Amino acid sequence: MAEHIVKRRLDYEKPDFLISETALTFDLFPEKTVVTSVLLVKRQNTKASHITLDGEELCLVSVSVNDKALSSDEYELNASGLKLCIDCDSVELKIVTEINPKQNTSLEGLYYTQDAYCTQCEAEGFRKITYYLDRPDVLSIFTVTIRTTDAPNKYLLSNGNLVKRYKEGDTDIAVWHDPHPKPSYLFALVAGDFDLLVDTFITRSGRVVNLELYLEKGRLQQGQHALDSLKKAMKWDEDTYGLEYDLDVYMVVAVDFFNMGAMENKGLNVFNSKFVLADAKTATDEDFFNIESIIAHEYFHNWTGNRVTCRDWFQLSLKEGLTVFRDQQFSADMSSYLSTRISQVKVMREHQFVEDTGPMSHPIRPDEVMEMNNFYTVTVYDKGAEVIRMLHTLLSAEGFRKGMDLYFARHDGEAVTCDDFVDAMATANNMDLQHFRQWYSQSGTPLIAVSKKENDLAATTEFTFTQVNPKTADQKEKSPLFVPIVAEFLDTSGKVVDAPSLTNSSIIVNEQHNSFSVEGTNLTPVLLDKFSAPVVIDYDYSIPELLHIIRYASSSYAKWDASQRVFSACIQARYAMQISNATPRGDKLINNRNTLDVQGVLSEYANVLVNADIEGDVLVELLSLPSTETARTGLKTIDPIAFEDASEYVQKSFAEHIGGHALACLSASQVATYQYSVEQVNQRALNASWLKLAVLNEDTRNAALLEIEQRYIQSDNMTDRLNCLKVCQIENIDLFDKLMSSFEQEFGHDAVIMDKWFGLHATTKRVDILAQLDLLRAHGQFTINNPNKVRALIGSFAFYNTLGFHQKHGAGYKYLGDYLLDLDKVNPQVASRIVTPLLQFESFNEPYKSLMKSQIERIFTSKGLSRDLFEKASKALTSSAN
Ligand code: TRP
Ligand code: ZN
Repeated sequence: MAEHIVKRRLDYEKPDFLISETALTFDLFPEKTVVTSVLLVKRQNTKASHITLDGEELCLVSVSVNDKALSSDEYELNASGLKLCIDCDSVELKIVTEINPKQNTSLEGLYYTQDAYCTQCEAEGFRKITYYLDRPDVLSIFTVTIRTTDAPNKYLLSNGNLVKRYKEGDTDIAVWHDPHPKPSYLFALVAGDFDLLVDTFITRSGRVVNLELYLEKGRLQQGQHALDSLKKAMKWDEDTYGLEYDLDVYMVVAVDFFNMGAMENKGLNVFNSKFVLADAKTATDEDFFNIESIIAHEYFHNWTGNRVTCRDWFQLSLKEGLTVFRDQQFSADMSSYLSTRISQVKVMREHQFVEDTGPMSHPIRPDEVMEMNNFYTVTVYDKGAEVIRMLHTLLSAEGFRKGMDLYFARHDGEAVTCDDFVDAMATANNMDLQHFRQWYSQSGTPLIAVSKKENDLAATTEFTFTQVNPKTADQKEKSPLFVPIVAEFLDTSGKVVDAPSLTNSSIIVNEQHNSFSVEGTNLTPVLLDKFSAPVVIDYDYSIPELLHIIRYASSSYAKWDASQRVFSACIQARYAMQISNATPRGDKLINNRNTLDVQGVLSEYANVLVNADIEGDVLVELLSLPSTETARTGLKTIDPIAFEDASEYVQKSFAEHIGGHALACLSASQVATYQYSVEQVNQRALNASWLKLAVLNEDTRNAALLEIEQRYIQSDNMTDRLNCLKVCQIENIDLFDKLMSSFEQEFGHDAVIMDKWFGLHATTKRVDILAQLDLLRAHGQFTINNPNKVRALIGSFAFYNTLGFHQKHGAGYKYLGDYLLDLDKVNPQVASRIVTPLLQFESFNEPYKSLMKSQIERIFTSKGLSRDLFEKASKALTSSAN
């Protein structure tokens, strides 16, 4: 067991040695694979006399330097590496190790499941394969030989181009060569039997690229959407950024056992099969969307990540933030801008803002890391993308492209830092980005308080922006950031007034206080349109102002944002009322919201929706309530059960006001055969909203339930069927149970589809939910070794089953605690993700807070804890002590 030590960004030192060439030979056996590594080592620092190679959980067989075998007193070996003397400028190092892929349930390094070998090396998994300089700034040219005796027809894959494939007796051999120098985290090997879907792409300079999709046997037709997505992504990156693919073959392998979504290994992406396989019958619109976006994400990494990589892991957002931004741009171009942007903003508000209020708060470029796997976070990825997006807003599309061009011109083939990226943007645009850079070093969500003061004489309105940067678990001192706030101002007739003080439609807030004057009075400000910065706007909107925005704002996004505020205000008002009933002195909890006439507001809002001329794609968004995380904005702690009750009350009341109208709005089922198109996706989403509201409305409820059952049976696609299940999950448990059994009968054989079934069961409101979870864990499709199953069942429960998880006596928390301690032994990376809901104890009232915390204490003190869980549990306990 390697120790639990903290590494710091500022301690970075250049490597003393480089590895110019790496030749690996794998003799594959499930329980004993022999890895022979021949490294051409070059000394960089002439003062260095020893090299320390990273290695974990390896069995060392032999080491030799320039063909001379070392005896065991000529090197030092410990749980984290191998140290030996190199006192010259260039040596050939040969290292033989043995590993056990079958026993490797962590799914990091080389592992064997479902009769196939697979690797996952990012971030620091390569050291579980062989001793190496396992750091991203050591780039090497790899040649890989794969040898196996156990299956004549297997595919033997690695990065780059296939040099030869041949037989020696009964040994099958493949040799691969990757001409592009790369760090070890981009290495990949896959060996196994698959069905192969192929196509070609011709780059704009006329090169032919073979596209190869490797799928589980019998699933060939389910790969077409992924393949189509890949071609769209390749074309888009040429058109948008002038970036072409650079090898003769691009391979994508889908596997069922995988820790994350997918991995961008050079020329050989490995994917969670959930993000590859799709057809109308088995995948939802959301699945189709995610596949397109993740295929694109991994493809885009070929330039932003692989050709230009990270100097050290603290720079992770260099590749992830940028690549997420690029995949977001792509998705917006391929499907609806509005729904794409809204789903990104939801990730920010529901997950990233939450992360920043908890013990794991960190800047997009972290300063301290114990376990790197813990930093593949919504902060590094999604907030990282928002920071890039702000640059794009500030520099415009053309300026941003100039910056990208310069970034590649300067750094192709290098391992660089976030500062290098911002430097390229600044130089290419001749712009000072010094203040902006602070987004990379400061954690937390800025709160921008906005107030207005009217000057009747001059007929102007002054808006004052006050930036508050609350301290976070990791940083006490904060300073004002550079925040672009896209804004417009509506007059009483709903017209946008001229505001010359805006630059690029943005107000720049860059000090503690900034003021702006706008012509006119009685103005309604529309602030942070399109979520132009990852901040919270605190402006005391009245309900009439919000409805004014929903009627008249020029931006559909702004309408949605205003609608979220309307609902949130109602939920908070109802919640305050409930809490004050329970605790007599709770009257001052929420100023003036508790006097809100919730029914009146919902009725008026419903009226606006029915009468204003709102396009279908906007309407879908305006019909849905905010999540708890959004609705509770501004409340430091909540009682999760009371808050859920309040939210349900508002949902139901809204249905009473608008739901009568809902059944009539449903479009006939089976309008056309399923197609994944913008129009159809929107139509299905709208139908789902209407169905839900119709069921929640007493008058239409029975008719709607009949409709649901019929639609479930008749539908040709998973989207409609899942939507039906979700509605009866809330409102009619008997029908739900009936349809769920029929679902199981139909799809019980298919591991990928059954994740949806596990997820639905795990989020059902029932008093015996914990006993249900026990039963589900015994289901034939469930195994603790498969991260998708664990996430679908245990993850969905912990993240989304509010009533089941937050039980008065802590039984839900204990259930998760017990499970995590078992899971940590099998797969620490997955355990460390699912612990997240427990880390947030500071955001809840008693008794929830103490009960959650006691589970974290229990995890923290348990023996043999992984570095992953140790880091999170210890942070949670220290930050709560402060
Ligand atoms: N780099 C991958 C991506 O964002 C994600 C990744 C990081 C990953 N670590 C992983 C994937 C471990 C699987 C397992 O595309
Ligand atoms: Zn990525």
